[in-house]
Amino acid sequence: MNSDTTGSGTSPIATMKVKDTSIDMPVRSGTIGPDVIDVGKLYKESGCFNYDPGFTSTANCSSKITYIDGDKGILLHGGYPIGQLAEQSNFIEVCYLLLNGELPTQTQYTEFEEAITRHTMVHEQMSRFFTGFRRDAHPMAIMCGVVGALSAFYHDSTDINDPEQRTIAARRLIAKMPTIAAMAYKYSAGQPFIYPRNDLDYTSNFLQMCFAVPCEPYTVDPVIARALDRIFILHADHEQNASTSTVRLAGSSGANPFACIAAGIACLWGPAHGGANEAALNMLTEIGSVERIPEYVKKAKDKTSGFRLMGFGHRVYKNYDPRATVMQKTCHEVLDSLGIRDEPLLAVAMELERIALEDEYFVEKKLYPNIDFYSGITLRAIGFPVEMFTVLFAVARTVGWVAQWKEMIEDPEQRIGRPRQLYIGNEPRELVAREKRG
Ligand code: ACO
Repeated sequence: MNSDTTGSGTSPIATMKVKDTSIDMPVRSGTIGPDVIDVGKLYKESGCFNYDPGFTSTANCSSKITYIDGDKGILLHGGYPIGQLAEQSNFIEVCYLLLNGELPTQTQYTEFEEAITRHTMVHEQMSRFFTGFRRDAHPMAIMCGVVGALSAFYHDSTDINDPEQRTIAARRLIAKMPTIAAMAYKYSAGQPFIYPRNDLDYTSNFLQMCFAVPCEPYTVDPVIARALDRIFILHADHEQNASTSTVRLAGSSGANPFACIAAGIACLWGPAHGGANEAALNMLTEIGSVERIPEYVKKAKDKTSGFRLMGFGHRVYKNYDPRATVMQKTCHEVLDSLGIRDEPLLAVAMELERIALEDEYFVEKKLYPNIDFYSGITLRAIGFPVEMFTVLFAVARTVGWVAQWKEMIEDPEQRIGRPRQLYIGNEPRELVAREKRG
């Protein structure tokens, strides 16, 4: 089998030779980034499937939302570089951008922020759900259950064919996710739930729902609120990653948006994805001191150890993760603002980063720190326990999931996602009665 891409004016084709058959397949170009070969008719014309475990060379959709160039370390939302959005915008504005493709005007911003603010409360009956969980339940387990249960409460926004209902569902999810996340945290801490406050911005409100208690006033630290808002921006969307693809796949069957986002949360929980910030902080704690770093670097290079440097490497970035640069700066800002001068884990992190970036193994495999490397230290300094790290990621990523879900539903090319397989099981055989099986 061989393939050859040839230009033919505006519509290039790729020719693939399978056994004796030559198949011409259209090559489609995006705005920027690699072209794609449309292999849709490959099976029909050759009887072969495309085999690509982990989808390393497979585009599953066309999208206008986010662009990543992993080799150059570029991440754009709606064309805007992530660094500029993190420095000059805020999370609500980025939400609007991801959902609508453009940054809002002042009027649009005011309307959108107001709509999100007005949807932050959850149905009062939902609070009873929490008491069904053990106090020591992982908050991601609670998130999977409670977010999925939203579809049992908000029937008026589950018709995916109604654009108005899609918009309301999107806004509800963005608005209610912090409330549910804060409730999951409060439940684990044995503290009463704190209602949202509509006079606060999105991130400040989340902080007060997590850290306020009814018996004393709570003042939001603006430096911490800005840092968390930036963390939310950095995690808002990341193209067709595992959890987003899960949401798209779940949604492709016509499932309601709340159920789809619950599926995304389940996928995000894994340590190779959103769970990595928790795993990275646990690893830094386990290393404990700069002197022990070489031992762990050696272990990470030993394939038989099963150990990886958490917070290093990325499926797409083969260069510095542009979010990690902003995250490192944010980490320093938070520690300075809180007066934490000698955070031992920061010293371990910085030295580990230095050593790994010089080590032949990591250099050759293009393993750079990813966003999770510094986010754990920052979130812990803000006051969140490690179990909440992935939950915060889910709060931020909800807008990305919802925007991608909406884009998929509105895409005329959308079909149910149904991958095929290379079957390696038994050939057809006759069933033998149980008593006669040897
Ligand atoms: N430490 C040591 N070696 C590593 C690491 C690591 N963190 N990451 C990858 N490698 C090695 C692999 O052993 C492999 O080596 P080989 O080619 O000799 O077999 C090679 O680098 C490529 O690794 P793959 O697992 O094939 O790369 P893939 O793209 O499938 O995985 C992933 C990417 C899952 C992120 C991986 O780098 C990893 O496990 N990192 C640690 C977990 C982590 O930080 N995840 C966060 C991702 S970012 C996010 O979700 C926001």
